[in-house]
Amino acid sequence: METFAAFQPPPRLLMGPGPSNVAPSVLAALAKPLVGHLDPEFVRMMEEIKTMLREVFLTKNEMTFPVSGTGSAGMEFCFVNLVEPGDEVLIGVNGVFGTRMVDVAERCGAKVTKVEAPWGQIVEAQQIADALRTISKPKLVAIVHAETSTGALTPVEEISKLAHDGGALFLLDTVTSLGGCPVRIDDWEVDAVYSGTQKCLSCPPGLSPVSFGTRAMTIATKRKTKVQSWYLDVNLLSSYWGQDRVYHHTAPISMNYALHEALRLVLIEGLENRWRRHEQNHVGLKAGLKAMGLEIASQRGHQLWQLNAVKVPEGVDEAAVRKRMLSDFNIEIGAGLGPLKGRIWRIGLMGETSSRANVKAFLSALGQILNDSGRKTDADAALAAVG
Ligand SMILES: Cc1ncc(COP(=O)(O)O)c(C=O)c1O
Repeated sequence: METFAAFQPPPRLLMGPGPSNVAPSVLAALAKPLVGHLDPEFVRMMEEIKTMLREVFLTKNEMTFPVSGTGSAGMEFCFVNLVEPGDEVLIGVNGVFGTRMVDVAERCGAKVTKVEAPWGQIVEAQQIADALRTISKPKLVAIVHAETSTGALTPVEEISKLAHDGGALFLLDTVTSLGGCPVRIDDWEVDAVYSGTQKCLSCPPGLSPVSFGTRAMTIATKRKTKVQSWYLDVNLLSSYWGQDRVYHHTAPISMNYALHEALRLVLIEGLENRWRRHEQNHVGLKAGLKAMGLEIASQRGHQLWQLNAVKVPEGVDEAAVRKRMLSDFNIEIGAGLGPLKGRIWRIGLMGETSSRANVKAFLSALGQILNDSGRKTDADAALAAVG
């Protein structure tokens, strides 16, 4: 029989598209003793998680809880509960995750209309308005708020209004936006939303916070057909996460401990303070990059604070830089995807990772790597520009 040494992860600075670094108290929460998933103390903690999620989503929605599974499970949760075969669904697509929404909606039997924008650009409200005019009975309009694959933040208030004027629900992906920039579920009248734990909430991956408003709950509870997924059926999950506490599946107990602690930290810092910190570190990174002659690739005025798509300079080997960043500096950064493959690096400044010290660590490592490869770069000027 083959045996192995206990796994010892290297000390990485996680500056890619997620996961982000996690606070020591969140890691410590994972190591706490297990209780049962119906233990009264666990149930009390579940209620606190729901309350804190409402505070972070800025919603009063009763049906707000973490789905067991990563952000993609939250995406599926929303579509399988709201879409029935033959429903007309309009989806904004400007990157990987809008594309994935289309796939999920089609698997639910939806007739999907795609509203596309070039990767790195936002989907304009006018495009949604024009597309809605071509659909007879739209059931749902869905869009990704913060496209992690491109670093673009699409403004969604106007799109939400258009969806409602057209008689549709509005569904929003906030996997990368929640906790890192304003997300206002009630003010923006978002009917259904999902997120992930491993980005700006700085918790390990494994849960997907979701929230359904009353319109979405009415659709989900008055369906003609059964929800195609037993595991993600909100009608069954509400009996466990609601007051009845009926066993549905064994909740990932330790992950819920970790989320409880991560949400506590978010709220202790304060949402507005946290957004400001993300903004300031993005501005610092941009100033440093500019001093090195580098720039952000995504649309001006709509660049994400928490995910920076940095243009790879002409003649530089994108993958070699990433590789050396990891092997020599223990810094993980992300590659471009799809049409942006080889053209950008994705630099995450999410949650715990978003600090001035980390911005400087990255710029100094990048300066050294570029200089070693023969491309003259002034890393000192970059560090001074960060402030
Ligand atoms: C915007 C967005 N949506 C959905 C997902 C899917 O989440 P997960 O990888 O946690 O399943 C991601 C993951 O990066 C994402 O960035």
